Amino acid sequence: MNTIESIEKRRSIRNFKNDEISKEIVEDILNCGRLAPSAKNRQPWYFVIVKGKTKDRIADLMIDYTNNNDDTIERKRIGYASSVNPTANVIKQVPILVLILREKNDNWIVGDNLSIGACVENMCLRATDLGIGSLWIRDTVYVASDVAKMLGHEAMELNCALALGYANQKPKQRARKDLKDIIEWYDE
Ligand SMILES: Cc1cc2nc3c(=O)[nH]c(=O)nc-3n(C[C@H](O)[C@H](O)[C@H](O)COP(=O)(O)O)c2cc1C
Repeated sequence: MNTIESIEKRRSIRNFKNDEISKEIVEDILNCGRLAPSAKNRQPWYFVIVKGKTKDRIADLMIDYTNNNDDTIERKRIGYASSVNPTANVIKQVPILVLILREKNDNWIVGDNLSIGACVENMCLRATDLGIGSLWIRDTVYVASDVAKMLGHEAMELNCALALGYANQKPKQRARKDLKDIIEWYDE
């Protein structure tokens, strides 16, 4: 698949088959993340791959979070945390969850976050190439410190996660803003 095909075909997948993905395929995808550009070439990512009970414990932490936290009115108004439970259910269903951790460093928050974005998009596109469905996940943010502690990685923070599995759905392309509404040219 060429680049434009992967970009156009990629979808967020929230319904996966039970089929396992081979370690070789997972590592191929992670390798494409590793090759992403990063601010100051800091490569601020560290991948922890979780399956089975460990993965389910993360989903349970997220469900406990929504059950036990009366979130702020403002967050409720904008629906900020409303997808946590649905995302936790996707995590339970998917065979592989890649956790993307970052060393805590207050001086590099913006650069590191942008770099991790490039890394995860590379992985989503490579997954598409290989016929693997993916879901980029930020809803783990509410339980980030619990997850880092659970994995024995307190010196790092959980930035986001990537669910990987064979898709059991074929979503249509989701709406995008028109190019004309989001660009502005200054020719001179
Ligand atoms: C940084 C980032 C975080 C996301 N977090 C979640 C998430 O936690 N749960 C979820 O269901 N989808 C999540 N998504 C998927 C978006 O909802 C999705 O990309 C968007 O609706 C457009 O759909 P598409 O990816 O199929 O084009 C996230 C996407 C990005 C880029």
